[in-house]
Amino acid sequence: MGKIQLLDENVISKISAGEVIDGPYSVVRELIDNSIDAKSTKIIVNIIEGGKKLIEVIDNGEGMDKEDLEKCYLRHSTSKIRTIEDLYKITSMGFRGEALASISEVSEVEIISKPANQEEGYKITINGGKFISLTPHPSQDGTIVRVKNLFFNLPVRKNFLRSETTEFRNIFDVVIKKSIPFPEIHFEIIHNLKKEIILPKTNSLLERIKNIYPEIKELNYIRKTYDEMEIEIFFSKPSINRPTRNLQQLFVNKRYVESKTFLTAVSNAYSNLVPKGSYPIVFCFITIDPSLIDVNIHPAKKEIKFKNEGKLFHYIIQSIKEGIETTSQIITLEEDNLKFNEFEKQIKRSIEEFLIKKREVGEKPQHYKAFHQLPLQNPKTNYVDKTFSQKYSLPQNNYQQSNTNQNLTQLEKVNKWNFIGTIFNTYLLFENSEEEKVLIIDQHAIHEKLIYSKLYKEILENKNLQKQILLSPLHIELSKDFQTIIKDNYTLFNQLGFEIELNENKITVKAIPTFFGKDIPIEDSIIEICEKIKEGIEPSIENILEIVATISCRKAIKGGEKITSFEAFSLLEESLNSKDSFACPHGRPSMIIFDKKTLESLFLRR
Ligand SMILES: Nc1ncnc2c1ncn2[C@@H]1O[C@H](COP(=O)(O)OP(=O)(O)OP(=O)(O)O)[C@@H](O)[C@H]1O
Ligand SMILES: [Mg+2]
Repeated sequence: MGKIQLLDENVISKISAGEVIDGPYSVVRELIDNSIDAKSTKIIVNIIEGGKKLIEVIDNGEGMDKEDLEKCYLRHSTSKIRTIEDLYKITSMGFRGEALASISEVSEVEIISKPANQEEGYKITINGGKFISLTPHPSQDGTIVRVKNLFFNLPVRKNFLRSETTEFRNIFDVVIKKSIPFPEIHFEIIHNLKKEIILPKTNSLLERIKNIYPEIKELNYIRKTYDEMEIEIFFSKPSINRPTRNLQQLFVNKRYVESKTFLTAVSNAYSNLVPKGSYPIVFCFITIDPSLIDVNIHPAKKEIKFKNEGKLFHYIIQSIKEGIETTSQIITLEEDNLKFNEFEKQIKRSIEEFLIKKREVGEKPQHYKAFHQLPLQNPKTNYVDKTFSQKYSLPQNNYQQSNTNQNLTQLEKVNKWNFIGTIFNTYLLFENSEEEKVLIIDQHAIHEKLIYSKLYKEILENKNLQKQILLSPLHIELSKDFQTIIKDNYTLFNQLGFEIELNENKITVKAIPTFFGKDIPIEDSIIEICEKIKEGIEPSIENILEIVATISCRKAIKGGEKITSFEAFSLLEESLNSKDSFACPHGRPSMIIFDKKTLESLFLRR
């Protein structure tokens, strides 16, 4: 007997349901699409237990009469297309006629609906795809869809559901992305009977965006019309940016779309204007002839195919570039300035000064070798710019200790190295001619590492980082999901030294970690931490400390702190002292050692 058998209908329908519905958030996505297609002006999303228990979407749209209710949950039942040609003209959110079928296949569904022109409403109940009842039911104009016990008949899927918090966060994200291109619709999300967000209707896209992300202070706008499409873009000036791409969003015909092409085009448009790892804010809305795109390629309609992606790419770059220029936000960076930013120039300058000074006091201008000929005393008093170590929060005990006898070996270890200089204004280059070795330190990575180790030690010893109370508390408007992240990780923020009070629409910061210098922007730092957690990093103390270390290091560097060659040495010593200094907290290497032989083999001498 052959091995191939046809799957039974039941299995087939569950497989295809799984393609469309893979969790509470996708139920919400489909129900909102339906409410939008029904021309609703108010949509309320009511969730219990992250959607595991109940997902309810209430709209005031055109509703369904008894006959429609009877059909709506059947596979391939749709009011949106009739012929294959219609598929190329779709302007509605749905068209496959399988969302309600898939949802009711894997849950218990109740739909109560009444079109405005009908006297009486009806309620239909479907359980695991099976019709239960259809009865008259009091109803307002519009539709209520209730989805209970999702995946009750698919235990494996049910087990795969994430925590209530995570599932709700995904739902929240879906509703937000759905709401952005429809500012004329009022949206509300309620979770466990608590109103999470209310987005009142408005006729401005920008107002909707600001309602959702109150921390966005200003965005510029450009609108361009091309033959086959219209592009509207809200964009930040290059100096306003975020640590992730979360606020680079593309909407095509009012549908949120994930597109690498778009992200690349944005990077391209801002190239040379923003530092690496920083992402400007861009909300792009494209209105395009539906026959030039195919939304059919993804079961969740998340990706779409453009007929001419190259053109689109070009248009987006062109529009943003033009927008940046015409709003005269452009900071023209000359080639020279690009290569050496102010901080890097200062490093260069201070090293030069240091060497000149050395010559003046009659020492050999031969880099650091000169230093260890100095009598053993506390060199800090001679050369170290105190603010340097303070700014970087480096352990303060370095030289005093290393000059005592027991640490002499350490100092000798340091003194074996000859400081050659800084290359690319980032890497400190040392040579050990005795052992024929070359050492390269990534100055920024090692700073991060040292700050991280110091703070980590402090947390291990005291459980908390020291706080400084702010003289006047700082009020920050934050989007709802960031507020939730802070609430969910309250202890963690506290451990880090943040004292935060959560109010209705904003947070009040009362204390910040002591090591935060005045040049570290508090608001940006809190947003950066939230954003990383939102992106999915596990909110452990180690991970968040890593972010904090990066922030404090990056801000200090931006602040234009000088580094002298003496300080280069103090870093080297710190690094040699510190246990695993070969990797920065992100796991990137911070020091690389290689020997002469390696170099020789590169030049094919060996
Ligand atoms: N909230 C609602 N208000 C009015 N009619 C609705 C609502 N929800 C569903 N319907 C009707 O039920 C039909 C089936 O909905 P369903 O979501 O299953 O399919 P669709 O929206 O046509 O396509 P897709 O599967 O791509 O979402 C819709 O075409 C629409 O006519
Ligand atoms: Mg639909």
